[in-house]
This record gives sequence, structure tokens and C-alpha cells, in this order.
Amino acid sequence: MSEETLSNLLHEGRRFPPPAELAEHANVTAEAYARAEADRLGFWADAAQRITWAEPFTQVLDWSDAPFAQWYVGGKLNAAYNCVDRHVESGHGDQVAFYWEGEPGDTRTVTYAQLKDDVCRAANALVELGVKTGDRIAIYMPMIPETVVAMLACARLGAPHTVVFGGFSAKALSDRILDCGVEVVITADGGYRRGAAAALKPAVDEALESCPAVRSVLVVRRTGQDTPWTAGRDVWWHDLVDRQSPDHTPEAFDAEHPLYVMYSSGTTGKPKGILHTTGGYLVGVTWTHWAVFDIKPDTDVYWTAADIGWVTGHSYIVYGPLANRTTSIMYEGTPDTPHKGRWWEIIQKYKATILYTAPTTIRTFMKWGADVPAEFDLTSLRLLGSVGEPINPEAYIWYRDTIGGGRIPVMDTWWQTETGMHMISPLPGVTAGKPGSAMRALPGVSADVVDDAGHSVPNGAGGYLVLTEPWPAMLRTLWGDPDRYRDTYWSRFPGLYFAGDGAKKDEDGDIWLLGRIDDVMNVSGHRLSTTEIESALVSHPKVAEAAVVGATDPTTGQAIEAFVILRGSAGDGGADVVKELRDHVAKEIGPIAKPRSILVVAELPKTRSGKIMRRLLRDVAEHRPPGDATTLADSSVMDLIAEGLATST
Ligand code: WTA
Repeated sequence: MSEETLSNLLHEGRRFPPPAELAEHANVTAEAYARAEADRLGFWADAAQRITWAEPFTQVLDWSDAPFAQWYVGGKLNAAYNCVDRHVESGHGDQVAFYWEGEPGDTRTVTYAQLKDDVCRAANALVELGVKTGDRIAIYMPMIPETVVAMLACARLGAPHTVVFGGFSAKALSDRILDCGVEVVITADGGYRRGAAAALKPAVDEALESCPAVRSVLVVRRTGQDTPWTAGRDVWWHDLVDRQSPDHTPEAFDAEHPLYVMYSSGTTGKPKGILHTTGGYLVGVTWTHWAVFDIKPDTDVYWTAADIGWVTGHSYIVYGPLANRTTSIMYEGTPDTPHKGRWWEIIQKYKATILYTAPTTIRTFMKWGADVPAEFDLTSLRLLGSVGEPINPEAYIWYRDTIGGGRIPVMDTWWQTETGMHMISPLPGVTAGKPGSAMRALPGVSADVVDDAGHSVPNGAGGYLVLTEPWPAMLRTLWGDPDRYRDTYWSRFPGLYFAGDGAKKDEDGDIWLLGRIDDVMNVSGHRLSTTEIESALVSHPKVAEAAVVGATDPTTGQAIEAFVILRGSAGDGGADVVKELRDHVAKEIGPIAKPRSILVVAELPKTRSGKIMRRLLRDVAEHRPPGDATTLADSSVMDLIAEGLATST
């Protein structure tokens, strides 16, 4: 973010206090901050009462082996029981858990009783496939109810799931399967996107060529398209799951039993397996979902419009909403299929009260124009949420005014795959929101902005965002790599969790997020590392060297810009090689990682020690004159790149 944008941001003077009616009935009042301040662990002990424990915990937090935390020591619970069974037991079996909307227009309504039966059947099916507590299961699925069922069946058995986003490539899937030691994969023939059936199973088959340990593949029939089949390994969901008993007794697991692993981009090429465990995670997402969205289980119709393949889907489509007995909407496809008003039509149809989505999507809707949502009745809405990247004030105001009729608060929630739960966010009944600021740490959470030396900066100054106290839904480690966990998050500032985001405190002490400060890009709210894409590029036989930067983009937040040096044998590049390289990245990582542009260059700007000066490349990508280049080993390089740019456009 440029200095100019930053100073504009900090001069943003608008304030939006909570609507009186909302404040009056809000789940959480200002008192929660004081309570948590006075007794943080006591606060989290109370929050833990929102879920059902088979055995009570004896200690809220054991931090004696920091940074390896144990929350709710001695407690035992089952996450799936908390998400479904207990609601059926308390007489809410007929309540709708999901209004599911398929992209072609087919719909399904799933009640809590049906969900419980389906989860039990799927758990019994997995047992029949030989799954035991502790085994890892990969889930590679479209946005259909069976994806939720599969996750909860795993949780019910204490078999950690690792959900891989359906847009990722076969290569990305096999990397995750191998890293996590997966033996069973749950997938579907395909799903609907942009008006067509998109196959998933062939990517699984391709991935499994390099994953001999996978013995079973459970396949949901969603699209009915032709599907390659490996006899003895592949089994249809409807053949195996449908004939199972709808009864299954959940076992209570230790609070620290692994719940899932979610892979996320870090600063190196190898994705990190972020591990979440059962008790603390469930308490964290359940409390924050209830507090930040002011969830009223009997009346709200809640919609997180995100993919289950990301942490937002895990925490705020599956675990938080279900543990809170929420009625949710789940939508399979893209926002412009079959028309650009699809989301607003869904909100009108189900009378949605809460919508949670990403700034990149809001900016896309802005581009499509206010007349699209204007055709639909959105008056059922009472709360809006944003996640994934900083929301610029224009997008915030558009969201609040055009979707929220100028009366609905916007919850700008800052958090990460690693934090598991919302960390910095307004509270709807308490906070007077400022467009562009995530405001302050939630009750029970401690965040700060520090300088290079790790000292808290005064109000009005900027620096690095840190979390100063452990929190229940924090990642416990990186799968199989505790050293990398310690190095990545806890070594930059001893005793503080380093989030990797730049931030500023305004004159009131409220926090404004400024984007990643490391080599992680944020493209449409998806985290991608520059190194990961560089590795994909250099794995192509025609590429000698590659540098990737994230350039500011009005819609996607950041866009991927690549600079490559071709091998001598590859000729002079040209349009064909650029297309070939873009497709190669899509195959290695997934279509979301395709560079917006690839510039073939003769040299890359490097320091004398050989480090690529991405800052200068970013200047080129953002059409600025390159900044200070005096530390370059060869100062003519930037001129060569500028010439290349001039001839390529
Ligand atoms: C960014 C997504 C500003 C941030 C839940 C963070 C945000 C990264 C916000 C985590 C927000 C997320 N304001 N930036 N409200 N929410 N981010 O792991 O850079 O996919 O570090 O988790 O997204 O991305 P992740």
C-alpha cells in the first residue's frame, strides 16, 4: 500500500455507531472487554461453556512449554457431537442446518437431524474402510453438503482431515497428501462452476500416481459425468455410505487431539501444514462466531460466502456456525452464474440476515454496478462481514450502503489460517466502526503493533502486527515441523507471535492493517507465496530464473507479476512461451496462481549478495519509476528491464 493511500486511510473520519436496536439486544456488550482484561483465562473458561464437554478440563492454559500451547487441559470432547448431536438431543432436530443451493439451481434443505444421521453413516463407512483414530484423510470436494458431512465424520472418529481447495492442481494435492501421510481421500466426480460441470476425480487419480499409501478413494456423485475408476481402490459414496446405520456413538477425545491440518502458503516454496486441535479451536470459533456476528440461533439465516477449502470455510461455515446451532446458506457456484444478481437472489429467497465475504468480491460487485443488487429485496440483512485482506474505505462504504441500505454495521475481521478464529474485529453491539479499520483485539485476545526492536509503537505510528498472548484457537504447530513453527512465528520477536502483517495504530489506538510485509501475496484473499510461484516457474525446462511480485490491483487486491529469464535453448520467448508458462503454473499450483503477466527479461535486479530486489520489480509492475537502485550489483539491469517493458507493450 502506498504512502499516499495510507495517509488517505488515516484521514478517514467517518464513524458508524451500532444501530440502537442491535446494541440493545447484542450477545456481547462492552463489559466483555473489561471482564477479559481483568481475568483473561477466566474469560476463556467461561467461553468454553458454550460447548459440551464429556469430561471437564482442569486447567485453562498450560503455556509452560511455550510456544507449544495446551488449552483446556484434561478436558475431553467430540467436535461432531458438539456440531450436531447435541442440537438434536435438545429438541432442535427439525431446525435447518443448511439451505444448500447448487449452481444449476437444484436445492437441498438439510436439518440438524438429517445432518446427524448423515455424519453417523459416513463415520460408519470410514470405519468400514479401516479408518482409525489418528489416521489422516484428505478431502477434495466441491461446495456440497457431503463436504461438511465428510469433515464431521472425520472429526467424529478423531481422524484429522486436510481439506484441499478444489481449485488446486493434482500436484498441489499430492504434495499435501504426502506431507500429511494421508491414506484415504474423499472426493466427488466434479462440481458446477461457471455454468458447467468441472471434473475433480481425474486430478485425484493423477495425484495418487505419486501417493502409493492411499488405499481408498470415496467418491460422491455430484455431476454424473463420466469418471475414471480404479477398481479395488475407488468406492462410490452412495454405495458405501447410504447403506450404513445412522447411529454411531461418538468417542470423547482429549482437548488437544488433532482436529485438522490446513495447508497455507508461507515465505518458502513449501506450504505449511497448520495444525488445529479440538477443544481450544472449537471454543475459539464458537465464541467469536456468536460474538462478532451476534448469532441468534432461532432467527438468523447466516451466509459465509467462501469456499470450505479455506480456513474461513472451516471456522465460519462448518465448526463455528454448527456448534452455535446456526441456520446457514451454502452455495456451490460462482456469483455471476447464471446472472450477476445470483447472490442477491439467494439472500432474497432465504431471507438471509448475515453475509460474510471478502473485499475482492465486494469490489467485483462494485464493478458490476449498484443496479444489480437494487433489483432484489435485501432488507432481511442485519449484519455484514468482511475477511481476507484490508477492506478499503470505498468498498466498505459501498458494502454498507448498497448491500446494507446504509443501516447495517460491517464487521471487518482480521485473522489468519494460523489464528483459527477472529482476532481483531469490531463487535456489532459495541463498536463505532471506522471504514478501513479492523478496530481492536476482541475480548480475550491481545494484539499490538511493534517496531523493529519489538517495542510497542505509540498511537499514530506503524510497524508489525503481533499477538502478545496465546489464544484458544491458535495453531499448535506445523505438521511434522515444530522447528519451522517456532522459527516462523515466534523467533522474530521473542515471546510475541509474529503475524507477517504490517499495521498502524491510529490516534485512538485502533488498528489498520496494511497487508503482508513478507513474501506472501494476497490475491483475491488467497495467500500465495512469491517463492512458491517462482519454484513452479523454474520447474519448467525453458526457465532459467524467475522473480515474482505482488502488484496492487483494483479488484483482486494484489496481482501476480512474474519476471523470467529463459534458458539459452528456449529462444526469445514471445507470446507462446508466456502462455505455456502461465499454464504450467496453473498445473503446478492451480489456476488462482497464474501470473497476470509474465515479462521475459535478460537479467534480474540483484544485490551484491545475490538477493533479488523485488521492491524494484514491484515499481516496474506498478508503473512507477524504479526507486533507489544503488545497492544493485549491476545498475544497468533496470534500464534493460524498462526497455524490455517498452518493447513488449
Ligand atoms: C490478510 C484468512 C486485513 C492478512 C482468514 C492475513 C486481512 C492473511 C484481513 C491471512 C482483514 C485477513 N484485514 N488483512 N480483515 N483478514 N487478512 O491465512 O494479511 O488465508 O495475514 O486467512 O490475510 O490469510 P489466511
